[in-house]
Amino acid sequence: MEQTLSIIKPDGVAKGVIGEVIKRFEGAGIKIAAMKMIHMTKAQAQGFYAVHKERPFFDSLTDFMSSGPAVVMVLKGENVIAKNRELMGATNYKEAAEGTIRKDFATDIEKNIVHGSDAPETAEFEINYFFNSFEIAG
Ligand code: CMP
Repeated sequence: MEQTLSIIKPDGVAKGVIGEVIKRFEGAGIKIAAMKMIHMTKAQAQGFYAVHKERPFFDSLTDFMSSGPAVVMVLKGENVIAKNRELMGATNYKEAAEGTIRKDFATDIEKNIVHGSDAPETAEFEINYFFNSFEIAG
Protein backbone atom coordinates (compact mmCIF):
# COMPACT_ATOMS: atom_id res chain seq x y z
CA MET A 1 0.00 0.00 0.00
CA GLU A 2 1.42 3.38 -1.01
CA GLN A 3 2.00 6.21 1.48
CA THR A 4 2.41 9.96 1.05
CA LEU A 5 2.98 13.00 3.24
CA SER A 6 0.30 15.66 3.40
CA ILE A 7 0.61 19.03 5.12
CA ILE A 8 -2.25 21.38 5.86
CA LYS A 9 -0.15 24.54 5.78
CA PRO A 10 -0.44 27.45 8.24
CA ASP A 11 -2.89 29.28 5.94
CA GLY A 12 -5.16 26.21 5.83
CA VAL A 13 -5.13 25.93 9.61
CA ALA A 14 -5.77 29.70 9.98
CA LYS A 15 -8.68 29.55 7.51
CA GLY A 16 -10.30 26.73 9.49
CA VAL A 17 -10.35 24.16 6.70
CA ILE A 18 -8.61 21.25 8.49
CA GLY A 19 -11.88 19.30 8.69
CA GLU A 20 -12.84 20.09 5.10
CA VAL A 21 -9.48 18.86 3.77
CA ILE A 22 -9.61 15.66 5.82
CA LYS A 23 -13.22 15.10 4.70
CA ARG A 24 -12.07 15.21 1.07
CA PHE A 25 -9.28 12.71 1.73
CA GLU A 26 -11.60 10.29 3.52
CA GLY A 27 -14.32 10.82 0.92
CA ALA A 28 -11.86 9.69 -1.74
CA GLY A 29 -11.15 6.46 0.15
CA ILE A 30 -7.77 7.63 1.48
CA LYS A 31 -6.84 6.40 4.97
CA ILE A 32 -4.97 8.54 7.52
CA ALA A 33 -2.13 6.48 8.95
CA ALA A 34 -0.63 9.23 11.15
CA MET A 35 -1.48 12.81 12.04
CA LYS A 36 -0.18 15.60 14.29
CA MET A 37 -0.12 19.36 14.63
CA ILE A 38 3.30 21.00 14.58
CA HIS A 39 4.73 24.50 14.49
CA MET A 40 7.90 24.28 12.38
CA THR A 41 10.95 26.35 13.11
CA LYS A 42 12.49 28.22 10.19
CA ALA A 43 15.33 25.65 10.17
CA GLN A 44 12.87 22.74 10.02
CA ALA A 45 11.06 24.38 7.10
CA GLN A 46 14.39 24.98 5.34
CA GLY A 47 15.31 21.31 5.79
CA PHE A 48 11.96 20.13 4.53
CA TYR A 49 12.10 22.31 1.41
CA ALA A 50 15.87 21.90 0.83
CA VAL A 51 15.26 20.92 -2.82
CA HIS A 52 13.97 24.45 -3.39
CA LYS A 53 16.86 26.27 -1.69
CA GLU A 54 18.04 27.98 -4.88
CA ARG A 55 14.56 29.22 -5.79
CA PRO A 56 13.76 32.91 -5.37
CA PHE A 57 10.75 32.06 -3.20
CA PHE A 58 12.70 29.86 -0.72
CA ASP A 59 13.10 32.46 2.04
CA SER A 60 9.51 33.63 1.87
CA LEU A 61 8.22 30.03 1.67
CA THR A 62 10.16 28.93 4.75
CA ASP A 63 9.06 32.07 6.66
CA PHE A 64 5.47 31.23 5.81
CA MET A 65 5.76 27.54 6.69
CA SER A 66 7.20 28.46 10.11
CA SER A 67 4.67 31.25 10.74
CA GLY A 68 2.06 29.14 12.55
CA PRO A 69 0.75 25.66 13.26
CA ALA A 70 0.38 23.12 10.47
CA VAL A 71 -1.10 19.62 10.36
CA VAL A 72 1.15 16.87 9.04
CA MET A 73 -0.33 13.54 7.99
CA VAL A 74 0.72 10.24 6.50
CA LEU A 75 -1.91 9.21 3.97
CA LYS A 76 -2.27 5.63 2.85
CA GLY A 77 -4.01 3.95 -0.06
CA GLU A 78 -3.85 2.58 -3.56
CA ASN A 79 -2.08 5.14 -5.78
CA VAL A 80 -2.34 7.70 -2.95
CA ILE A 81 0.48 9.99 -4.17
CA ALA A 82 -1.34 10.73 -7.43
CA LYS A 83 -4.79 10.68 -5.79
CA ASN A 84 -3.72 13.28 -3.22
CA ARG A 85 -2.20 15.50 -5.90
CA GLU A 86 -5.42 15.29 -7.88
CA LEU A 87 -7.46 16.35 -4.84
CA MET A 88 -5.04 19.23 -4.12
CA GLY A 89 -4.99 20.66 -7.67
CA ALA A 90 -2.16 22.59 -9.32
CA THR A 91 0.40 24.45 -7.15
CA ASN A 92 -0.91 27.73 -8.56
CA TYR A 93 -4.54 27.96 -7.46
CA LYS A 94 -5.27 29.96 -10.64
CA GLU A 95 -4.44 26.88 -12.70
CA ALA A 96 -6.10 24.37 -10.36
CA ALA A 97 -9.10 22.39 -11.64
CA GLU A 98 -12.60 23.10 -10.37
CA GLY A 99 -13.45 21.31 -7.15
CA THR A 100 -9.86 20.88 -6.00
CA ILE A 101 -8.68 21.97 -2.56
CA ARG A 102 -6.44 24.74 -3.89
CA LYS A 103 -9.07 26.02 -6.32
CA ASP A 104 -11.63 26.18 -3.54
CA PHE A 105 -9.51 27.62 -0.71
CA ALA A 106 -6.16 29.07 -1.90
CA THR A 107 -5.71 32.71 -2.82
CA ASP A 108 -1.92 32.77 -3.28
CA ILE A 109 0.64 30.62 -5.14
CA GLU A 110 2.74 30.32 -1.96
CA LYS A 111 -0.03 30.12 0.62
CA ASN A 112 -1.75 27.27 -1.17
CA ILE A 113 -3.38 25.40 1.76
CA VAL A 114 -1.80 21.98 1.30
CA HIS A 115 1.40 20.18 0.38
CA GLY A 116 1.65 16.64 -0.96
CA SER A 117 4.66 14.52 -1.88
CA ASP A 118 5.23 14.29 -5.64
CA ALA A 119 6.90 10.84 -5.97
CA PRO A 120 7.63 7.69 -3.94
CA GLU A 121 11.22 8.81 -3.13
CA THR A 122 10.11 12.23 -1.91
CA ALA A 123 7.24 10.64 0.04
CA GLU A 124 9.73 8.45 1.91
CA PHE A 125 12.00 11.41 2.73
CA GLU A 126 9.09 13.64 3.75
CA ILE A 127 7.34 11.02 5.93
CA ASN A 128 10.60 10.24 7.75
CA TYR A 129 11.25 13.97 8.17
CA PHE A 130 8.22 14.35 10.46
CA PHE A 131 7.34 10.87 11.76
CA ASN A 132 9.16 7.97 13.38
CA SER A 133 7.86 4.43 12.90
CA PHE A 134 6.05 4.38 16.29
CA GLU A 135 3.93 7.36 15.25
CA ILE A 136 2.54 5.68 12.14
CA ALA A 137 -0.30 3.67 13.58
CA GLY A 138 -2.78 3.20 10.73
P1 CMP B 1 4.35 22.89 -2.35
O1 CMP B 1 3.54 21.92 -3.12
O2 CMP B 1 4.40 22.77 -0.88
O3 CMP B 1 5.85 22.86 -2.92
C1 CMP B 1 6.69 23.97 -2.91
C2 CMP B 1 6.00 25.22 -2.48
O4 CMP B 1 6.63 26.41 -2.87
C3 CMP B 1 4.62 25.30 -3.16
O5 CMP B 1 3.77 24.35 -2.68
C4 CMP B 1 4.26 26.74 -2.88
O6 CMP B 1 3.85 26.92 -1.52
C5 CMP B 1 5.63 27.39 -3.06
N1 CMP B 1 5.80 27.91 -4.43
C6 CMP B 1 5.95 27.22 -5.57
N2 CMP B 1 6.11 28.04 -6.61
C7 CMP B 1 6.08 29.28 -6.11
C8 CMP B 1 6.20 30.56 -6.69
N3 CMP B 1 6.38 30.72 -8.00
N4 CMP B 1 6.12 31.62 -5.87
C9 CMP B 1 5.94 31.45 -4.55
N5 CMP B 1 5.84 30.25 -3.94
C10 CMP B 1 5.89 29.18 -4.72
